[in-house]
Amino acid sequence: MPHLLLLASYAFGNFYPINQNRRSNPIIKRHPLMEKMHMALTLELTPEEQAIMKGEQGETLQKVMQTVVTFGELFGATKLVDLQAAPHLAMSWSSDAVLPFIEIYEKLVAAGLKTYAPFTSNPKPMDHNNLDPGEEKRVVVQELHKHHHTLGELYSNLGMKENAWSCACFVPQIGNTPQQGDFISWSESSAINFANSYLGARTNRNSVGIDMMTAILGKAPYFDLLTDEGRKADWLIDCSALTKLPHPELLGAVIGLKVMEDIPYIIGMDDRVNALDDVVGYCKDLGAATASNGAVGLFHMEGVTPEARDQGRSLLKSDHQLYVISDAELQRVFNSYPVLWPDENAKPERVFIGCPHNTLAQLRWWGERIVSALEAAGKDAVSCPPYLFAHDNVASEFKENHPELKARMAKYGISVTNNCPVMYMTTPKQSDEIVCTNSNKTRVYSKSRFYMDDDLVHIIVTGQLPDQAPKAHP
Ligand code: F3S
Repeated sequence: MPHLLLLASYAFGNFYPINQNRRSNPIIKRHPLMEKMHMALTLELTPEEQAIMKGEQGETLQKVMQTVVTFGELFGATKLVDLQAAPHLAMSWSSDAVLPFIEIYEKLVAAGLKTYAPFTSNPKPMDHNNLDPGEEKRVVVQELHKHHHTLGELYSNLGMKENAWSCACFVPQIGNTPQQGDFISWSESSAINFANSYLGARTNRNSVGIDMMTAILGKAPYFDLLTDEGRKADWLIDCSALTKLPHPELLGAVIGLKVMEDIPYIIGMDDRVNALDDVVGYCKDLGAATASNGAVGLFHMEGVTPEARDQGRSLLKSDHQLYVISDAELQRVFNSYPVLWPDENAKPERVFIGCPHNTLAQLRWWGERIVSALEAAGKDAVSCPPYLFAHDNVASEFKENHPELKARMAKYGISVTNNCPVMYMTTPKQSDEIVCTNSNKTRVYSKSRFYMDDDLVHIIVTGQLPDQAPKAHP
């Protein structure tokens, strides 16, 4: 989820987050912004855009345009560009914190406005059918997200695609899959990273509010990651010394911690990554980890990502820095992860797998791996319940394609849920549960503890933590 700056929206007379973009994040106070809005525009508008700016298509759309133009000007944009593919929004939680957005979105609906294409949104905060926290906690989460129905209805009226709640919106089962070069304006950091890096689409790291404004307008300001120059790499990341394919979540965390908001160009990985059955899953998880331990909106990987395949090392800035990643460096970072449980030897209560949401291939991989480990151990049920997070359409296709495996998973107690593990873990009472995860993002945003895949399987099968100190690169 995004790191947010707050901007007083002069146009709507409301407060909302504006941006999580790179380098130029000033703390913007109300007064200077208002002054700026009265200054002559440096962002060049087409005649059609000028007409909207003057209110010729209604006062509400005029406010949307004013907001987007001000946002662009603050970041040095020179023009607006038309958006392609479809929007993706990060806000799916529905606590009182969403009330300022609800107020604005109600005005959009009242004006009859809709997004330029049917949009997708992050996963919802509860799925009591498949991840039931128990009666007492259920009441807490329902009370916390009490604007759930209001938000759903507003989204529907503003043009949301039916049942499209997932951060992995780009998988074919959901279909919000931009093409290389498409301009988009997304706000979920993991989806942004995947769209920019693996798909070669172009989006800045927008925040909640700006995502909706640009989606209504169908235009976004042209700066930073939308430009050729803004997509050049600041770092050469050399992984050629690694003795084996690293866990994507760990490699992503190591890179994110080093480069922070910069753009890495990764070498020494292409043979290993391109040999995988699920390159999408690997790049999705690696990118999400760079975006959660750092604020990386785009990575290039030599021989893998489209711009690196097309342009090679000419993507590197002339003054780029070098970071060499060894097995020892992976281990060093892994060992530095704090344990936030009250007792580091506590008995694990749940295992969360899939943040960002799993792909179809990942559901199958985890299902087969856990089931075969249980059968090898002669178990007839899991000892610590695992939850595989995925969109309903992915879960349905999985069930359709692999009915026997799905039936065995259900029999052993392996659940598939459309929830968001971070939202689950950031709800009062649920946040105290002893949870193990394969996700760096879940680790960063909650008290859950990160384990490598073999250790997670051990925990699921035995209900016990591994005896020896966890190893990042065994
Ligand atoms: Fe997705 Fe929730 Fe993780 S939105 S990336 S499952 S924090």
